[in-house]
Amino acid sequence: MPELRELYQQVIVDHNRNPRHRGRPAHHTHEAAGDNPLCGDRITVFVDVEGGVIRDIGFEGAGCAISTASASLMTSAVVGKPVAEAERLFTAFHSMVVDPAAPADPRALGKLAAFAGVRGFPARVKCANLAWHTLHAALRADGERVSTE
Ligand code: FES
Repeated sequence: MPELRELYQQVIVDHNRNPRHRGRPAHHTHEAAGDNPLCGDRITVFVDVEGGVIRDIGFEGAGCAISTASASLMTSAVVGKPVAEAERLFTAFHSMVVDPAAPADPRALGKLAAFAGVRGFPARVKCANLAWHTLHAALRADGERVSTE
């Protein structure tokens, strides 16, 4: 489906050039830092949780186009959602990019499906997963630094 591939590419380019939710929110209850030691890219995710719902979210850091676009799309996907839904998306996204047995049609994930193409490229999988693993750590609030290695 070349049109779909083209659309997904445009989504990634757009979110890399114009990342949503970049920066530290005015108030946050959770945060975690993550890095990819292979390239040195790093990210910090800040989450403001109230009543079990992600009221606000932001990220800081420097990364490649895929990690920046993934952080932007991740923050857009989870803001306003219950924490349990964000964790469900984390699991579904992770499975889409690493699991060869994951459903062939990832469109149920909406724009997040733009990253389905990284499956099979381990270095790119780490780029796409960095923000999600860091969000997961922030929500667990265990203060542990996340690494893709
Ligand atoms: Fe560093 Fe993508 S090359 S996270």
